[in-house]
Amino acid sequence: MKILGIETSCDETSVALLEDEKVIANIISSQDFHVEYGGVVPELSSRAHLQMVMPLFKKTLEQSSVSIEDIDLIAATAGPGLIGALLVGLTFAKGLSYSTGKNFLPVNHVEGHIYSGFLMDRKPEFPYLCLAVSGGHTLLLIVKSDTEIVKLGSTIDDAAGEAFDKVAKMLGLGYPGGPKISAAAASVSSSSIKFPIAHCKNEFDFSFSGLKTSVLRFIQKEYGNAENIPAGDKGLIAYSFQKSLVEALTRNVVKALNQFRVKSISLAGGVAANTLLRSEFESIAGKIKVPLVIPSLDYCGDNGAMIALRGYRLFNAGRRGTFGSNAFASMPEDNFTGYKK
Ligand SMILES: Nc1ncnc2c1ncn2[C@@H]1O[C@H](COP(=O)(O)OP(=O)(O)OP(=O)(O)O)[C@@H](O)[C@H]1O
Ligand SMILES: [Mg+2]
Repeated sequence: MKILGIETSCDETSVALLEDEKVIANIISSQDFHVEYGGVVPELSSRAHLQMVMPLFKKTLEQSSVSIEDIDLIAATAGPGLIGALLVGLTFAKGLSYSTGKNFLPVNHVEGHIYSGFLMDRKPEFPYLCLAVSGGHTLLLIVKSDTEIVKLGSTIDDAAGEAFDKVAKMLGLGYPGGPKISAAAASVSSSSIKFPIAHCKNEFDFSFSGLKTSVLRFIQKEYGNAENIPAGDKGLIAYSFQKSLVEALTRNVVKALNQFRVKSISLAGGVAANTLLRSEFESIAGKIKVPLVIPSLDYCGDNGAMIALRGYRLFNAGRRGTFGSNAFASMPEDNFTGYKK
């Protein structure tokens, strides 16, 4: 089966082609121009998707040596994301499906991330524990089957990626914050600065707003503002912040692994590109001898391949899309297939 995957939920336009679960093409165009505004400007994002989606679609077919007639399923991100951005890919997919008679399936973006491990040679095995950490979400889940994803916990305030982005801004490191913080912390091997890790009522939930505020207070108290922070100190603050945030994530993962028996562990989303987080996961999985699946860097950020993969799995599970399907903007857990409290 040949599956086309279309992703336009935020600042990446991506079109991919999969042959069952094998990636034939996965073309990603990142909207780098948002850097100048310090964050994604929704209106500009929609316009850029409009410019890119058709050329990327053509390039994907060319690169895969596939024609429109060969495609069996068109899967597109339907939410959550920026509404104007989502509409570009979703409407493109519906139009393509209507004009060709090919099957169409709307896909939840976060479910796409959760399934990105299946794009790797070694795939997760059900039930698997998945930490999905991205710009808008932080979720600890047990994926029981293609139609049952159980949420153990989520952030009660900022998402992990959002905390990285905001702290990078406080330090004057630029956008997107994750890679900048990670690079600034890379040259540091220890720091005496300590930032707090919050404990939540639900033991599997996360909270990063206190951590973020304590970085802000530290900067204000010690330097007044970001311009007065010496480069070396930025590295120390970045190191301490990253250490606390990664510890907050892994602490809940360890707790969950002590309580639930799983066959694999997976890490997904943009923050899964973080070197420290990846190595901590390797050490946790190594200790308890449970196979770990972490997507390669191309599949951590937003990409069409993960949308095609999730669409393929849902299609095989009997799910069919209709042209009336909406771009949904509600919380992802409400949309998780078979989600049970
Ligand atoms: N090396 C890294 N370390 C930490 N964070 C990172 C790294 N690389 C990217 N990120 C973070 O990942 C986030 C982007 O991930 P992603 O593209 O999956 O988010 P999104 O699509 O905007 O949000 P969502 O998937 O929740 O809708 C940004 O917040 C970015 O700072
Ligand atoms: Mg994403």
